Amino acid sequence: MAKSFTRLFFSLSILAIAFLAVSTARYTPRPKSRFQSQAFDVPGNYTYVCDASRFAALGLDMKDFVYCDSSLPYDVRVKDLVDRITLEEKARNVIDEASGVPRIGLPPYKWWSEALHGVANAGPGTFFDEVVPGATSFPNVILSAASFNQSLWKTLGQVVSTEARAMYNLGHAGLTFWSPNINVARDPRWGRVLETPGEDPLTVGVYGVNYVRGLQDIEGTENTTDLNSRPLKIASSCKHFAAYDLDQWFNVDRRHFDAKVSEQDMTETFLRPFEMCVKEGDTSSVMCSFNNINGIPPCADPRFLKGVIREQWNLHGYIVSDCWAIDTIVTDQKFLDVTSEEGAALSMKAGLDLECGHYYNDSLATAVREGRVSEHDVDKSLSYLYVVLMRVGFFDGIPSLASLGKKDICNDEHIELAREAARQGIVLLKNDNATLPLKPVKKLALVGPHANATVAMIGNYAGIPCHYVSPLDAFSELGDVAYEVGCADVKCHNDTHVYKAAEAAKNADATIILVGTDLSIEAEERDREDLLLPGYQTEMVNQITDLSTGPVILVVMCGGPIDISFAKNNPKIAAILWAGFPGEQGGNAIADIVFGKYNPGGRLPITWHENGYVGMLPMTSMALRPIDGLGYPGRTYKFFNGSTVYPFGYGLSYTNFSYSLTAPTRSIHISLTRLQQCRSMVYSSDSFQPECPAVLVDDLSCDESFEFEVAVKNVGSMDGSEVVMVYSSPPSGIVGTHIKQVIGFERVFVKVGDTEKVKFSINACKSLGLVDGSGYILLPSGSHTIMAGDNSTSVSFPIQVNYHN
Ligand SMILES: *[C@@H]1O[C@H](CO)[C@@H](O)[C@H](O)[C@H]1NC(C)=O
Ligand SMILES: *[C@@H]1O[C@H](CO)[C@@H](O)[C@H](O)[C@H]1NC(C)=O
Ligand SMILES: *[C@@H]1O[C@H](CO)[C@@H](O)[C@H](O)[C@H]1NC(C)=O
Ligand SMILES: *[C@@H]1O[C@H](CO)[C@@H](O)[C@H](O)[C@H]1NC(C)=O
Ligand SMILES: *[C@@H]1O[C@H](CO)[C@@H](O)[C@H](O)[C@H]1NC(C)=O
Ligand SMILES: *[C@@H]1O[C@H](CO)[C@@H](O)[C@H](O)[C@H]1NC(C)=O
Ligand SMILES: *[C@@H]1O[C@H](CO)[C@@H](O)[C@H](O)[C@H]1NC(C)=O
Ligand SMILES: *[C@@H]1O[C@H](CO)[C@@H](O)[C@H](O)[C@H]1NC(C)=O
Ligand SMILES: *[C@@H]1O[C@H](CO)[C@@H](O)[C@H](O)[C@H]1NC(C)=O
Ligand SMILES: *[C@@H]1O[C@H](CO)[C@@H](O)[C@H](O)[C@H]1NC(C)=O
Repeated sequence: MAKSFTRLFFSLSILAIAFLAVSTARYTPRPKSRFQSQAFDVPGNYTYVCDASRFAALGLDMKDFVYCDSSLPYDVRVKDLVDRITLEEKARNVIDEASGVPRIGLPPYKWWSEALHGVANAGPGTFFDEVVPGATSFPNVILSAASFNQSLWKTLGQVVSTEARAMYNLGHAGLTFWSPNINVARDPRWGRVLETPGEDPLTVGVYGVNYVRGLQDIEGTENTTDLNSRPLKIASSCKHFAAYDLDQWFNVDRRHFDAKVSEQDMTETFLRPFEMCVKEGDTSSVMCSFNNINGIPPCADPRFLKGVIREQWNLHGYIVSDCWAIDTIVTDQKFLDVTSEEGAALSMKAGLDLECGHYYNDSLATAVREGRVSEHDVDKSLSYLYVVLMRVGFFDGIPSLASLGKKDICNDEHIELAREAARQGIVLLKNDNATLPLKPVKKLALVGPHANATVAMIGNYAGIPCHYVSPLDAFSELGDVAYEVGCADVKCHNDTHVYKAAEAAKNADATIILVGTDLSIEAEERDREDLLLPGYQTEMVNQITDLSTGPVILVVMCGGPIDISFAKNNPKIAAILWAGFPGEQGGNAIADIVFGKYNPGGRLPITWHENGYVGMLPMTSMALRPIDGLGYPGRTYKFFNGSTVYPFGYGLSYTNFSYSLTAPTRSIHISLTRLQQCRSMVYSSDSFQPECPAVLVDDLSCDESFEFEVAVKNVGSMDGSEVVMVYSSPPSGIVGTHIKQVIGFERVFVKVGDTEKVKFSINACKSLGLVDGSGYILLPSGSHTIMAGDNSTSVSFPIQVNYHN
């Protein structure tokens, strides 16, 4: 394992130009065409390029084109194709709306489609109409992440790619999807937390790997040895590389923000999910982000694109820019005062294969003629692009996927999965007196701005859903419901509607209050300034609760965390559920849980901070560790030691589990050769320092793993699923380390009275290694602690790492 990224050049950094708020007006997507989005250039329902009748219709003979000879290897075919294209034509084909080359039978292609949690209605590559009126809209990622169920994540990817491929066959989508978003949610205010799997780098990476495998892999071809010809169901893209997690915070915007990131944080936190996505997920694309990293735009940084992603991690695929990122470099940041040609050349030389935008189209050919970048670089990028299109069947089709069509979109099975995913993710935060599951009641008051949520449930990067089941729809099916909004909308400007909602609660046997945010509060280009419920929502909840007759259940819909201490501490609010943005089946999933048809097992994938937290540090401070001199607390459960509303990993169940531990490995002995050198670590002055404090992970074989089994017994009175979280803590005395970190997790279903054994086998280097200040990864000797579970259920054991000569 090489050091994860090359040394950053701080000397080159330019200070981000005064953070002027830029209008978002320029960020208008191009109009969508009404005709087939992936239309081939001649009439007919073609789904792949190398069809002899299509060539004939163009007045060409396919036999003349070696690139269509499917008996030849991809690299030979792609070379033939690229060799036929002129420089001007090349420039028009390294942008998202690639023009194709009609004279040689190469049709246009729209690279930009999205599938974050279902096929999305974003990007010119996809559209919905009467032929495909909708696609299944699954919960937003932050909620699916809360299930901590790896097989669910993969299944979601598989079902989304089935619908995507079916839409491609119907001419309604591309084959290249710019999903998932695997940025670590470093700050709770970030407007895009809803799109991500949360704050833990390992969890984010494991989610990314599973979702990408689900999107891309075709059953039976997973073990193809030549990864450059491995077939793809659809192509994914892991984004946004890297350290991107600020959109618009006061007057700081993502296009001007210069993320000052230490090498330690870069390796340990920001790059880790991307490394996993490329190496373990074998994604066919990575997207670079808008923000600068230490003064340099990642889309123009050869050390990251060519050096880290292409060479160190060995990406099999293409690197794409976030949309209009070159424009951002040239016009917003005025990076090095580059001209359009220089900007295009800089990015191409850095390893940016495909631009979402138009600079390559307009300026790349000139840049090549002026000698700013070689045509050979352009050819390499085109080759990466065409190999992906070959793998995904754009040239030859994929027979096993050809029959996917309307019957495979929005079918009952997929809609049921949307409901199941939401149920698996929903987190039970409070349940006094076992109020939930709720016994059947005569009259239920369903109140609050999300009581009849529909569009809000699908969040962003959504498509058009098959159909919505709002909470009101779901609960009305089950009995007598009194519905009141409580607030006009989530912004809840005043208490005009509160009285009627409180009256409804007074006359009901139980009350469910549905509160939270929507995209008007947290979204792309919209970070939050505080963590409170918007407007009068808190007052609304309190007033309704005061007047209610029966038990009160609070359901919170949001992506980023909200400080709901007032509800946690209010004894009249018996139960609280977090439902994320639960997707098109959200109402059913919530009702399933409230009435005990499903026993909740989700866990928070992000710390729910108290509102005071965000007053203690600016969003612009990237550091994960506390900065004592400035009084900044640490970020994420790994480095924050203060009090929270609910911690990372929190989540209750309708049953109880007890853990016991069997057969843990207690020690790891590593014999060192003369060339495996001991390295020092910084210890606090009063602590014991081992003789050989640590060894570079790069110097070790890293074959050692440790094993243990957690027996999970359901000691309560309802069947249910339990997430076994496994953490490690480093030996005490080492300065500047995390408090603990997730090293594994497994969701397991256990029937009442039964015991299920969960086996873990964990690599020592990957899970016990520490990243030092320079970005080197070291495996320290000494006594590490392994913990499974949280609090009362938890079991732990020490594991001793010893080095010998
Ligand atoms: C394409 O397929 C649709 C539906 O099968 C059909 O109605 C249409 O006529 C076909 N178009 C052409 C040009 O073959
Ligand atoms: C691929 O390899 C894995 C691991 O060896 C194995 O479990 C799986 O069955 C293989 N799949 C196929 C289709 O051969
Ligand atoms: C690309 O450039 C050509 C002119 O060379 C222009 O006609 C076309 O509209 C451009 N395409 C895009 C997507 O900007
Ligand atoms: C619930 O929302 C749907 C969709 O917005 C709307 O059609 C319906 O009228 C609403 N129901 C009530 C009772 O307001
Ligand atoms: C309450 O807020 C709404 C906007 O949400 C506004 O239309 C209405 O006039 C306000 N009512 C009062 C009494 O201020
Ligand atoms: C829980 O039960 C206790 C004791 O019966 C009671 O005092 C309290 O009000 C109950 N809490 C709720 C939220 O129902
Ligand atoms: C928590 O972290 C802060 C910030 O580094 C530090 O000052 C404080 O001593 C820590 N408290 C505990 C109990 O570790
Ligand atoms: C662990 O227990 C403490 C004290 O009861 C509680 O505040 C915290 O939320 C629990 N943590 C988790 C992850 O359940
Ligand atoms: C779980 O255990 C706690 C503590 O022993 C107990 O108070 C609670 O009633 C149990 N809950 C269930 C659902 O069995
Ligand atoms: C994990 O998700 C899969 C797919 O939905 C489901 O079949 C399985 O039951 C889930 N596992 C647990 C323990 O909930």
